Amino acid sequence: MDQNELKKAAGIRSVDFIKDGMTVGLGTGSTVFFMVEELGRRVQEEGLNVQCVTTSDRTWDQAVNLGIKMLDVNDVDHIDITIDGADEIDDNYQGIKGGGAAHLKEKIVALNSKQVVWIVDQSKIVHTLGKFPLPTEVIPFGSQKTFDLLEKEGLSPKFRTDDQGELVKTDSNNLVIDLYLNEIKHPHLLAKYLDGITGIVEHGLFLDMVNTVVIGNEQAPKVIENIR
Ligand code: 5RP
Repeated sequence: MDQNELKKAAGIRSVDFIKDGMTVGLGTGSTVFFMVEELGRRVQEEGLNVQCVTTSDRTWDQAVNLGIKMLDVNDVDHIDITIDGADEIDDNYQGIKGGGAAHLKEKIVALNSKQVVWIVDQSKIVHTLGKFPLPTEVIPFGSQKTFDLLEKEGLSPKFRTDDQGELVKTDSNNLVIDLYLNEIKHPHLLAKYLDGITGIVEHGLFLDMVNTVVIGNEQAPKVIENIR
């Protein structure tokens, strides 16, 4: 199976966690794409009754096109479950997210969810976080100063650019600085440091947040529940 098939299998399997009447947070990314397609199918073909909030404009558009009821996150009083992708998950089920530059909204939705499910293919499972560059979302004002500070701290920052070499803008019109760390030995300490930097709106360390992980592998997707 190629990586896309593994993502698809994990995405489809995760929809089993969505029950009638739930308010659901929809993540962002290529794995989530398959989950949303399957959710749309169940809504259309099986009459599954859910309402959803989004973590990106992309996912919102996909869900609306599939006839899924979408609401602004400010207009729901709770979120039962959020299903999202991840870029890395370590031995302690800590994660890096933001490969799709949606980590700010993803974290807001995750922190307001009763249950968080991550869907990944097996390549995302690592012992230690950090091979995947750690995304930060920074406000454009003074972003070079924010960059300089991160560089001075030895965090190997790089502004994220697209295929045309243009700076990537998030849905909130901010910029992304990725930190090329290779290994993050102390994720909580790093998260605390980054939380304290004025100019960084949010970073991609998602710590102590996930409850369930669904991993697409060569067999049926592996489901790890009750993580916390
Ligand atoms: C977007 C994310 C994604 O969930 C993460 O990058 C995984 O993406 P994919 O499923 O495409 O591999 O955090 O900001």
